Amino acid sequence: MSSSTVSTKTLGTALITGASAGIGEVYADRLARRGYDLILVARNKTRLCTLAQRLKRETGRSVETVAADLNNKSDLARVEAILRNDPAVTLLVNNAGVAAVTPLVNSDVEAMDDMIRLNVIALTRLAYAAAPAFVARHNGTIINIASVVAIAPEQLNGVYGASKAFVLALSHSLHHELADKGVRIQAVLPGATATDIWDKAGKPLHTLPAAILMSTGDMVDAALSGLDQGEVVTIPALPDKAEWDRFEAARRAMSGKLSNAVPAPRYNNKLSAPAPMLARA
Ligand SMILES: NC(=O)c1ccc[n+]([C@@H]2O[C@H](COP(=O)([O-])OP(=O)(O)OC[C@H]3O[C@@H](n4cnc5c(N)ncnc54)[C@H](OP(=O)(O)O)[C@@H]3O)[C@@H](O)[C@H]2O)c1
Repeated sequence: MSSSTVSTKTLGTALITGASAGIGEVYADRLARRGYDLILVARNKTRLCTLAQRLKRETGRSVETVAADLNNKSDLARVEAILRNDPAVTLLVNNAGVAAVTPLVNSDVEAMDDMIRLNVIALTRLAYAAAPAFVARHNGTIINIASVVAIAPEQLNGVYGASKAFVLALSHSLHHELADKGVRIQAVLPGATATDIWDKAGKPLHTLPAAILMSTGDMVDAALSGLDQGEVVTIPALPDKAEWDRFEAARRAMSGKLSNAVPAPRYNNKLSAPAPMLARA
């Protein structure tokens, strides 16, 4: 389906976090056109309402807004309650997130703490609110927005990369536990995408090479194509999917060999000579 066509199907309700801007705003547009009613979550009520009015007008779908700071416990609990109790919800897009580009030693630990609470804790709590309801109905999809830094933590800020590695690992685990219960999981690993997140993180968007920067429309359309193709992990910018498949196959092949009653021979102290002490200058 083209990104401008409007479907007459009804696919249930999609709850999208971080829908007031960037990637989340485009998910809202595309999912409404695909036939979802929407619940849009973010802090900026004005932006959410403007988007909701446009999408209602253009698609005829029902669009609700929930102004919530997902770093605030009672706001987060309100959104969790919607996921637990609204039987119309069939899709969660766990998208709200913040980034950082500073090296760890130059980063404010309180900002790192805030980032972990949004990118990791809020995302986890929302997935755990949605999953039992989806399992009970044997129907539902959770899309977790990670990042390519999940597998390339040397790029950007280390805590940001680690938060996205968490999202990828959680997605693998959710898929492992829920696939046979009728619940679909997709982790999306965008590369650099043209949104305000870069300016907010202190790296102006215009400083990024155009050759690595994808538009939000292309990124979300590719991610939804990956969902349609049944992918558990979608990397919109990676040209050759076989590279990911080999990486994943190597991980899985190793996973059966990671616990053993005895250490690997290379750690056998009785056989190996002690390393020479480094002399102090
Ligand atoms: N852009 C990229 O290059 C890129 C690449 C890889 C992954 N990603 C990931 O994609 C996701 C979306 O990022 P984006 O690029 O679209 O960023 P963005 O344009 O800055 O949008 C972030 C969204 O999250 C919301 N948000 C931020 N803090 C929040 C909070 N405490 N509570 C509730 N909502 C909050 C923002 O809305 P309010 O300010 O209104 O709350 C906004 O709607 C993030 O998880 C990001 O890590 C982005």
